[in-house]
Amino acid sequence: MQSPKIFVTRRIPEKGLNMLRKECAVEVWPGELPPTTDELLTNVTGVEGILSLLTDKIDAAVMDAAGPELKVISNYAVGYDNIDIAEATRRGIAVGNTPGVLTEATADHTFALLMAAARRVAEGDRQVRAGKWHTWEPMGLLGADIHGATLGLVGFGRIGQGVARRAAGFGMRILFYDPNFPEGRQKETGANSVDLEQLLRESDFVSIHVPLSDQTRRLFNQVTFNKMKPSAILINTARGGVVDHSALYDALKNGSLAAAGLDVTEPEPLQMDSPLLTLDNLIITPHIASASRTTRERMAVMAAENLLEGFKGNKLPNCVNPQIYQS
Ligand code: DGY
Repeated sequence: MQSPKIFVTRRIPEKGLNMLRKECAVEVWPGELPPTTDELLTNVTGVEGILSLLTDKIDAAVMDAAGPELKVISNYAVGYDNIDIAEATRRGIAVGNTPGVLTEATADHTFALLMAAARRVAEGDRQVRAGKWHTWEPMGLLGADIHGATLGLVGFGRIGQGVARRAAGFGMRILFYDPNFPEGRQKETGANSVDLEQLLRESDFVSIHVPLSDQTRRLFNQVTFNKMKPSAILINTARGGVVDHSALYDALKNGSLAAAGLDVTEPEPLQMDSPLLTLDNLIITPHIASASRTTRERMAVMAAENLLEGFKGNKLPNCVNPQIYQS
């Protein structure tokens, strides 16, 4: 029997690639940048598996280009809004993702942004490098307290709960809004379930942990920002599309929000002429919340396992469209 052909859309940690190379014919896109649409269409021709990244749009055209042999799409991410799941499901193609292994790293980075935004870490660094550290200043770079403040988590899945655990250590009061969170489990978490209005009204920090969907796209907009405290700080390590960036710019500029910390934007990368980059009260990182060495290696292993199990005809260990196994 011929080894299954796989296209991997970027270099990922070797451990995952080596697992695949043992059993499959693996083609890895060599570029530092993702393949363009045309390059993707050309390279997937005849493959049985695609190992995709969140930077690759995997739609019907890509599935058509791959052809009828395509069995598994394994996304190297927990989020999968880059893939047309309905289309894959219609075709009986299994789609996998990498949940769980990046929870702690992402929660760590969320907290790093929260603390950096609250205590103006990036601004302080810029001032020192610009030769503007003239003396110790009683009123210089005053920030917000983290201990004792109220944190509102929008989305209380694995990552939201990971952030809550960290916040508990800082003595924060924790609220969350998540209509999907099972009733009765609140007590274990030490966080209180509230509606979105209350969360926005009472939180000193609001951190976003929802996937991007039709329901969450631009959930944070001018109306939402107006309901938040002017002293509030917004953190987003989920997906850029959940926030209306032009409304965020206005809110940060006119003082209806104090600061923001973003790891994700829409589009990515953020254009260099984005007005957001002119703001001192915004700290931004290039979608690196899961970027610890061990986490990225675990993601590679999980993404490989999804492909290998799928080729054996087994259910993917982490499958986002298990409905395909029902028929
Ligand atoms: C994900 O997994 O969805 C993150 O955004 C990248 O690790």
